[in-house]
Amino acid sequence: MRIGIPREIAPGERRVALTPDMVARLIKSGHSVAVQAGAGAAAGFPDAAYAAAGATLQADPSAVYGAEAVLKVHRPQRGENGAVNEATLLQPGSVLISFLRPGSDARLFEQLAAGGVTAFAMELVPRISRAQSMDALSSQATVAGYKAVLIAADALPKFFPMLMTAAGTIRPATVLVIGAGVAGLQAIATAKRLGAVVEAFDTRPAVKEQVQSLGAKFVSLDLETHDAEDAGGYAKALSDDHLQREQALIAKHVASADVVITTAQIPGRPAPRLITRAMVGAMRPGSVIVDLAAESGGNCEASQPGQTVTVDGVTVIAPLNLPSELAFHASQMYARNVTALLELLAPKATLNVDMTDEIIRGACVAHGGRVLYPPAAATAAASAIAPATAGGGR
Ligand code: NAI
Repeated sequence: MRIGIPREIAPGERRVALTPDMVARLIKSGHSVAVQAGAGAAAGFPDAAYAAAGATLQADPSAVYGAEAVLKVHRPQRGENGAVNEATLLQPGSVLISFLRPGSDARLFEQLAAGGVTAFAMELVPRISRAQSMDALSSQATVAGYKAVLIAADALPKFFPMLMTAAGTIRPATVLVIGAGVAGLQAIATAKRLGAVVEAFDTRPAVKEQVQSLGAKFVSLDLETHDAEDAGGYAKALSDDHLQREQALIAKHVASADVVITTAQIPGRPAPRLITRAMVGAMRPGSVIVDLAAESGGNCEASQPGQTVTVDGVTVIAPLNLPSELAFHASQMYARNVTALLELLAPKATLNVDMTDEIIRGACVAHGGRVLYPPAAATAAASAIAPATAGGGR
């Protein structure tokens, strides 16, 4: 297949969807790759590295969007002043693999389906063992969890580790991580490596052992959330009553922490509000909150997505798109994820959209002129068209 790698135009984005090592791998399997000039520059992958890997460099974005498979990081965007509309550059019969933010704007999926594009959302790759190599949510959450701790350490006017110096003993910082999913576990590990005393909480009791194996203390709150997980292993939303009890129970842990890192998310819903304005006010001045749920509204009432604010002397950081700040490795991991999905879609370098495959069907949001998201629509439509080949064999 002819594969195209555009330069990302989303504001502030530094990642690239394919790195030179994956370009070489795909070319070796029989694909050809066109990369927009400068696509990897901000992530530390110069044009020369792509050329050395066998890619063709293209100055004009339409040349890469003319490919049979376009690999991207961000959902198609409109450029400044509407100068470029990436969705309209995609060709009928082509495949798009990208983060697509399912649930945020249905019009994009309708537009892709109407344009004859077969689109796969990286967020929807099922979290099953066979799909682990394609799990971009996990790879990028790993980056975010790591970076959140570095940001917190930078903003905190204290050491993280305990130090015994001639100038006296320095007590270690205390870090509370709320939400021990992929990002939270990486935050725990990173804070431990820096020498902090770490405690963590999650509504899913199943993570207790993982938290403890990283050397952190699991904060047990008797929330009586017997069915904390759904069938996919994700957290279920708490009732208002449970949420209030959680807030009351974590308040004292928040008040005594130097750093609070929140990562609590419920798929398809706004992030739960766990830290109230009053809880921020009860923290020591100079303490730091990093709210990793800012993109879905934030876990902290004082968070302003994309900004750093100081509230009663507490620094509240609500970063958006942290993976972009560690663009080299975030791109490398993402590139491996999209390459693995492409290899599943195009074994022997020939496209075969096999809707009987759980991963392909789960991630596909548009195919055969139909929108296949949300999943209920996918089930009905996919059974009508499976198995199928998009745009003929290539
Ligand atoms: P996420 O980003 O959706 O949520 C982050 C964490 O917040 C979760 O651990 C969740 O339990 C927690 N949370 C939600 N509401 C909360 C509340 N009110 N208070 C405290 N914590 C709260 O989750 P993520 O990190 O994307 O993955 C979570 C699940 O997915 C886990 O069960 C994990 O084992 C599973 N998973 C499975 C994989 C596989 O089998 N291939 C790969 C990656 C994750």
